[in-house]
Amino acid sequence: MERLKIEGGHPIAGEVTISGAKNAVLPIIAATLLCRTPSNLSNVPDLDDVRTMLDLVAGMGASVTTDGDEVSVDARQITNPIAPDELVRTMRASILVLGPLVARAGEAKVSLPGGCAIGSRPVDLHVEGLRQMGAEITLEAGYIHAKCERLHGARILFEKVTVTGTENLMMAAALAEGTTVLENAAREPEIVDLANFLNRCGAVVKGAGSQTIVIQGVSQLKGASHSICPDRIETGTFLVAAAIAQSSIRCNKSDPASLEAVLAKLKESGAKIETGEDWISLDMMGQRPKCVDITTAPYPAFPTDMQAQFCVLNSVGVGVATVVETIFENRFMHVAELQRMGADISISGNAAIIRGVEKLEGASVEATDLRASASLVIAGAIAGGTTYVDKVYHIDRGYENIEAKLKGIGVHIERVTG
Ligand code: UD1
Repeated sequence: MERLKIEGGHPIAGEVTISGAKNAVLPIIAATLLCRTPSNLSNVPDLDDVRTMLDLVAGMGASVTTDGDEVSVDARQITNPIAPDELVRTMRASILVLGPLVARAGEAKVSLPGGCAIGSRPVDLHVEGLRQMGAEITLEAGYIHAKCERLHGARILFEKVTVTGTENLMMAAALAEGTTVLENAAREPEIVDLANFLNRCGAVVKGAGSQTIVIQGVSQLKGASHSICPDRIETGTFLVAAAIAQSSIRCNKSDPASLEAVLAKLKESGAKIETGEDWISLDMMGQRPKCVDITTAPYPAFPTDMQAQFCVLNSVGVGVATVVETIFENRFMHVAELQRMGADISISGNAAIIRGVEKLEGASVEATDLRASASLVIAGAIAGGTTYVDKVYHIDRGYENIEAKLKGIGVHIERVTG
């Protein structure tokens, strides 16, 4: 089995180029299923999750070609509107094909995503929204089976803010008859990127990035060219890596506007932050960060996908902080691993109380989900001695070229087997 071996304590500094956003490219690949002519996507990150999504659309009859960071998807025919269990199991975001398939092919069979390491994560709001748009939905042998000759517009009020739920219904509504209004919609930058892509394809989507999105359905969409927006979570992860190393970094090809809550917390911890149109720099000026309280909440508040990394920052910070997770139950799996490295953390319900210590010590730790694994890698980079991070496949799902990028800023990291 592959693991990452990290010799901690070497100076970290330099520049890193940020990749396209995983959470933007996945819905946009799903959205190519809505189009009758090819779409050309650029700045596509080379990730396991992207390969899974491309395998999914290829299995449905789309033809896919890849050339470096460019991907072309031609979905002029959908012959098999099925998302099989073996692919959905490896990636929950496979549910994103449900809306586009029913809207374009009139039918979809998508394996029901099961529970995962960060809680039960239901998809009831996706299903309920499609029902309100006229889909007939049944559950058969573990598959969601949705059918509808043509979806119709509806006014849908999300009882909870859901990112992929908003994306699924926005895509379905693009080809529905009439107008759909999504209320209490998610406002993430990746939703705006998807709306921009859809509008380039001929859709009429207004209000993405606000709580109310209005989609006027059209009868067909053509493919379009689109460059994927920068990955704000990858950016945040590298910024925290430099912060805990009491060092400096510049993230090129990043989007400062998408990281306001994270940058505010880094400033509060003592970092000097500078930004340009497409770059962010951080300098800790040789100081330990101050511990900072965090509460995760839907965008534009502090992202749950940065919670684990800030647990590491607080673990080596000065003082005490409380980290409250409000989005997912059971998203503190990294805490037990950080404790093995000497972190002083206690959990109380959905809060972690973290007392900063001066130094972490290397240990063998196990990644439990994508962001938890990133937090363990950056912890290893500043810990004394050697850290082994097991179950590397989690990190390969969502971080492009992680070893090369970390090596580029001075981290001693290699992939070993056994
Ligand atoms: C997306 C992101 C993920 C991020 C998360 C929260 C992608 C591919 N993934 O996941 O990286 O951590 O947003 O920012 O973009 N819920 C329901 N019923 C539903 C749908 C969601 O109860 O039908 C609940 C979930 O259990 C969770 C909350 O709503 O408690 C938010 O989940 P959601 O925003 O849907 O997360 P994802 O879209 O799966």
